[in-house]
Amino acid sequence: MKKVLISDNLSEEGVEIFKKTPGIEVDVRTKMTADELKAVIKDYDALVIRSATKVTQEIIDLAGRLKVVGRAGIGLDNVDIPAASRRGIVVMNTPGGNAVTTGEHAISMMLSLVRFIPQATASMKAGKWEKSKFTGHELMNKTLGVIGLGRVGSIVADRALGLKMKVIAYDPFISPETAEKSGFTLASVDEIFQTADFITVHTPLTKETRGLINAAAFAKMKKGVYVINCARGGIIDEKDLYDALVSGKVAGAALDVFMEEPTKNMDLIGLDNVICTPHLGASTDEAQINVAVAVAEQVSAYLTTGEIKGAVNFPSVSAEILSVIRPYLTLAEKLGKFEAQLVSGGIEELTVEYSGEILNYNVAPITISLLKGLLTPILNEGVNYINAPFVAKERGIRVIETKSSEVKDYTSMISVTVKTAKETILAAGAIFGRQEPRIVRINKFTVEVIPEGRMLVLYNTDKPGVVGNIGTILGQNAVNIARFHLSREQVDGQAMVVLGTDSVVSPDVIDKLRKLPHVISVTELEM
Ligand code: NAD
Ligand code: MLT
Repeated sequence: MKKVLISDNLSEEGVEIFKKTPGIEVDVRTKMTADELKAVIKDYDALVIRSATKVTQEIIDLAGRLKVVGRAGIGLDNVDIPAASRRGIVVMNTPGGNAVTTGEHAISMMLSLVRFIPQATASMKAGKWEKSKFTGHELMNKTLGVIGLGRVGSIVADRALGLKMKVIAYDPFISPETAEKSGFTLASVDEIFQTADFITVHTPLTKETRGLINAAAFAKMKKGVYVINCARGGIIDEKDLYDALVSGKVAGAALDVFMEEPTKNMDLIGLDNVICTPHLGASTDEAQINVAVAVAEQVSAYLTTGEIKGAVNFPSVSAEILSVIRPYLTLAEKLGKFEAQLVSGGIEELTVEYSGEILNYNVAPITISLLKGLLTPILNEGVNYINAPFVAKERGIRVIETKSSEVKDYTSMISVTVKTAKETILAAGAIFGRQEPRIVRINKFTVEVIPEGRMLVLYNTDKPGVVGNIGTILGQNAVNIARFHLSREQVDGQAMVVLGTDSVVSPDVIDKLRKLPHVISVTELEM
């Protein structure tokens, strides 16, 4: 008998699926403390959660028979995925099931904000009749800037067109053709800042989107702009938002998500021109049934048949094949992640060439792993081993898989070319030893890079002193270099430095590196 623990509120429809699946026994125990969970987790094969349960390294260490963690919803900030992966625990989520609900929440927030509905309700409940205090604005003909045109963003854009708003969207990873096919007009982020009357964010929280809406962004906006965040806390910087609301630059903000949840930022939510909900974006019966049913089906299938659906840390292949191709899955995912962060512009085409012994196996899961890696810096948890090919297709990314019989320097090699409207880049990788992934070529440069941790990729002209200067700047700013790789075309020609750092390199240090003599470009990556 396989035992499932549901530790957060899950719709009854999901619980029923577990109850009806032969061979599965389910316990629902919500609101447990961390210590209570620690005491019981050893008895379970599966843990089903939403956002409240924290699946930490400590919990995983105690979960001797745990095989799968299923999240009803998308966000996995509460799960230590590397710790789960190390133990071979599959982590699944259900992106998509709550997109309509969340999109509708953003639209409700925009309407409530501009017509003072929460404030007017509170005023009436206090026995007042303040008719002139709450004069709002119409939405018709106003410009809505949608930042992030994925599942939720495109629903918001679509509903706003129905409200006769002018909608412009910024999503650097979607081509204008794909956006146009859905009836949306793409704009630059600055165009949105400068022209929008309302700005709503629908991106994941990544290193690029953290603080995307900050003091510098507010400075570019029209006075009286309204902002809405039903995506992730931190995309809008709360301190800068507070200042912009107090100064009157921003007329109002509608917030469903916060940098810390539950938020303690009473200064911000206490402002009269802020309306807020406690992360209710996905909270409708319909969405909760969708995600509960999806997670219950996925977890039951895995426990009873071994089939993996919707996993963020494992592809769908048999255990036997998995053990052989696993190093290549890791390598491909890393190559994808590396190139996605190095390339600029929306990705249009991906060509992957396989050569060597790996051709004895089905390479399709490796290409999926590559796509997952490529899309992860853009979509974060929104992409998994199941939806990666569909998401790539939706985004208009052409995927070309080729097999080469040419003998290369390595037993097996994966070579990946990524094409955007702006440039084409190539990275190739191989496995060293039994399972160590290495990047062995970046464009025209032969390298031997360990794709791990934080990295800097610098292009420069091969001149004396460049490497020393880089080391000096990093050293002066207390950045320890973990690894260093050098490669060059020819003496005095173009050269490349790839280095691993032990800590984050701040934007001003990157700026100093960019200004060094003979340095052409600097890109920071996180692998
Ligand atoms: P998605 O992956 O379908 O779409 C995200 C979009 O953001 C993608 O199109 C991507 O290309 C784009 N993007 C990534 N980086 C960007 C950048 N720097 N600038 C502009 N666009 C960028 O995700 P989704 O399902 O639409 O979810 C959107 C957000 O909403 C996520 O943060 C998700 O976690 C959150 N969410 C919140 C709730 C809630 O309860 N409030 C519910 C569901 C989803
Ligand atoms: C999600 O991650 O799916 C949403 O933020 C809603 C939730 O927390 O369930």
